[in-house]
Amino acid sequence: MHVIQYIAAIDQGTTSSRCMIFDHDGAVVSVAQKEHRQIFPRAGWVEHDPKELWINTREVVASALAKAHLTESDIAAVGITNQRETTVVWDRNTGEPVYNAIVWQDTRTDELCRRLGGDEGPSRYRKRTGLPLSTYFSGPKVRWILDNVDGAREKADAGDLCFGTIDSWILWHLTQGTHLTDATNASRTMLMNLETLEWDPEICAEFGIPMSMLPEIRSSSEIYGVGRPQGPLPGIPVAGILGDQQAATFGQACLSEGEAKNTYGTGNFLLLNTGTTPVPSKHGLLTTVCYKIGDAPAVYALEGSVAVTGSLVQWLRDSLGIIQSAKEIEALAKSVDDNGDVYFVPAFSGLFAPRWRPDARGAIVGMTRFTNKGHLARAALEATAYQTREVIEAMRADSGVELASLKVDGGMVVNETLMQFQSDILGVPVIRPVVNETTALGAAYAAGLAVGFWESEGDIRENWAVDKTWEPAMDEAESTRLYAGWNKAVERTYDWV
Ligand SMILES: Nc1ncnc2c1ncn2[C@@H]1O[C@H](COP(=O)(O)OP(=O)(O)OP(=O)(O)O)[C@@H](O)[C@H]1O
Ligand SMILES: [Mg+2]
Repeated sequence: MHVIQYIAAIDQGTTSSRCMIFDHDGAVVSVAQKEHRQIFPRAGWVEHDPKELWINTREVVASALAKAHLTESDIAAVGITNQRETTVVWDRNTGEPVYNAIVWQDTRTDELCRRLGGDEGPSRYRKRTGLPLSTYFSGPKVRWILDNVDGAREKADAGDLCFGTIDSWILWHLTQGTHLTDATNASRTMLMNLETLEWDPEICAEFGIPMSMLPEIRSSSEIYGVGRPQGPLPGIPVAGILGDQQAATFGQACLSEGEAKNTYGTGNFLLLNTGTTPVPSKHGLLTTVCYKIGDAPAVYALEGSVAVTGSLVQWLRDSLGIIQSAKEIEALAKSVDDNGDVYFVPAFSGLFAPRWRPDARGAIVGMTRFTNKGHLARAALEATAYQTREVIEAMRADSGVELASLKVDGGMVVNETLMQFQSDILGVPVIRPVVNETTALGAAYAAGLAVGFWESEGDIRENWAVDKTWEPAMDEAESTRLYAGWNKAVERTYDWV
């Protein structure tokens, strides 16, 4: 008898697409990864080519299998996780996108969001959707495409267009044109009612989005379909979908109320599991679906989304050229003793949580002739840690949860200098798990649970293990002083546009 030993996960992210294959212990058996083009047509606009995303996904799946000498017959199921909010609109007859994917960081809908808010302002839909009106979410991006792409409105009205976040786009291609999404991704569109997990007809009407475009909303863990014969995983059940941050929360085994994780990738995303009732935020956090496993009730989260953290390191590499690779930032930051009183506020897409200031833009403040590139590198890393503290303070105010430690993951957590500083500035231990690729792992768990590869969430807890812990080592007076400097710097970035 052939015992199927593996689960695959597709992680279609903001900077790259990955495929990872995991065994029953949740250990990584194979990885393949490919970056895609970031398209910046104008200041504030960010796009991806949806076809490139699919081609890369197909390639990394094939290559992850090949590297481990596996074929699709070794895979029990595949899960999808994705960069969230990024919006694709395509023709349901031809599969052709009508426009590039508009990425979550894109700010072109700024004016549109102001109009949609009307007299009630950014909080107009907060109660129903858990979200403030912001350029971040998908709904306004769909509306922009319908208003600005020739012929799109007519086609949409005729029922010929599909909208999808990237999970839906990948699923459509992986299967034979299945059009659906899961509740976590749907909760980031601003079009879904957070309590009923259904599209809200009134919001769709007010946004001018025909409901015929929308994918069906399903749970995060069930069999949605099987891989199409000509695709990279023919006949394999596609059985899990989670937005990347929710997947990381699941992969970090934050499965009980009060458990949280912070992911350090392109941006930073801290999610706190709040159990089966959505908790509204008064302090600039989002209320979002954390996961919904099959028929079980949905679990919700409070989320602090920070737009720019790891992407600031990329910016230092690609736009300033003061480092050649992301890794080099650590040595450069360590070439100086401290930040030299320099603060770098990376408000490239305005500021997200907890401040939500679309009018802010980036600033480096506090420079003197003494300042050198080491200070800039240091200030860039510190910005990530300060932004995390802001979010944690908002989370405490909203939920009353006092974090005793912080579970971390993502591309930046290999940076030991940053992790130590993070612990210093928070005053709590910072814990990195053995499997740092929690995003892909979470999607694998969702898929594996649906097909009985894993029995229960207990398996997820059992598989989770600590790799390294950083303890706070700075006196509180010093961390308070630094954090006060940060706050002052952030205020300098307001009212810029
Ligand atoms: N040693 C390092 N120190 C600091 N930052 C780093 C280091 N290595 C990588 N990074 C940053 O980590 C980020 C990549 O992390 P990760 O792969 O988790 O990103 P991601 O958000 O998951 O990407 P995607 O959106 O494509 O999924 C990049 O922005 C990169 O600049
Ligand atoms: Mg990612």
